[in-house]
Amino acid sequence: MTISFKITVVTTLAATLILAAPALAKHEEEAQGFVHEAPLHQSEAWTIASGGRIYDKWWNALDRDEPEETNPAYPSSGQKSGSTTWRCKECHGWDYDGEDGVYAGGSHFTGISGIGGSEGKSVDTIMITLRDQNHPYTQEMITDEEMARVALFVSRGQIDMTPFIDIENRTMVGGDPNRGRGIFQTTCAACHGFDGRMLDWGDGDNHKYVGTEAAAAPDEVMHKVLNAHPGVQMINLRAFPLEYAIDVMAYAATLPTE
Ligand code: HEC
Ligand code: HEC
Repeated sequence: MTISFKITVVTTLAATLILAAPALAKHEEEAQGFVHEAPLHQSEAWTIASGGRIYDKWWNALDRDEPEETNPAYPSSGQKSGSTTWRCKECHGWDYDGEDGVYAGGSHFTGISGIGGSEGKSVDTIMITLRDQNHPYTQEMITDEEMARVALFVSRGQIDMTPFIDIENRTMVGGDPNRGRGIFQTTCAACHGFDGRMLDWGDGDNHKYVGTEAAAAPDEVMHKVLNAHPGVQMINLRAFPLEYAIDVMAYAATLPTE
């Protein structure tokens, strides 16, 4: 098996591009196809991961305008407002368990259920839900073709995180960090560095590295390992056995957090 991909991470250039071209802020122009477009013959792995990135933050995944208003379907009892209320993950969680998972309390609590009930259902059946009154997405936001990718993700891309993540304490408890070290050093490190500190999405002295995120929110990082981070040129492990992702997560949780 050959994995070959071109890695281009340009931080200073990216900062310049934020002013020049918001759509390309996180990657170079030549990566537009990989980050935002679809391959001619879509594999199931690509389609599920693409759906997973839309689930995460669809406007970055699809290169659309970020919504300004709060989602009218977001419960008034919830603490969030603005664009985040349009993210699937904001109502259903990174662990897909909604009010029964990590979002059972705290600032993300909405009382909305998880999406496990739709696992294994047909794309057509799930599409009906994704176009109902709880999901007021317009075609300009997410087209039917794109929403069908999300539906496939809902049907076949959900995983049960409870065997390896302690949901109550939000910590990694499973996986083999020694096996994960090999995966991290040969794949993730190309962009994140061997210690995970090459990319920093924090501000000022408040650093946010892979290690910081893996320690604080392993459920979120697990979702990103399986689907990639939306809007940037990142790889994902969707095509590989799930245990690879669990092992790399176990290793990521041992990396420096600051
Ligand atoms: C503003 C909150 C909100 C957002 C954002 C949201 N949903 Fe929902 N979703 C709901 C509500 C409310 C229900 C009905 C279930 C309930 O009341 O607990 C629901 C139900 C579902 C169900 C059926 C539940 C089951 O048992 O499987 C699926 C699947 C689903 N949503 C997927 C998505 C996807 C995919 C997205 C993003 C494209 C999304 N939702 C965005 C609020 C939301
Ligand atoms: C080809 C380059 C590349 C590779 C390989 C890569 N990433 Fe990333 N990753 C990125 C970029 C670019 C970002 C965005 C960083 C930013 O927002 O500043 C990112 C973001 C992330 C984030 C942060 C998401 C957030 O919450 O903002 C995590 C976590 C992450 N990567 C984990 C991993 C792991 C684990 C691997 C290996 C399985 C990996 N990445 C492989 C490029 C890569």
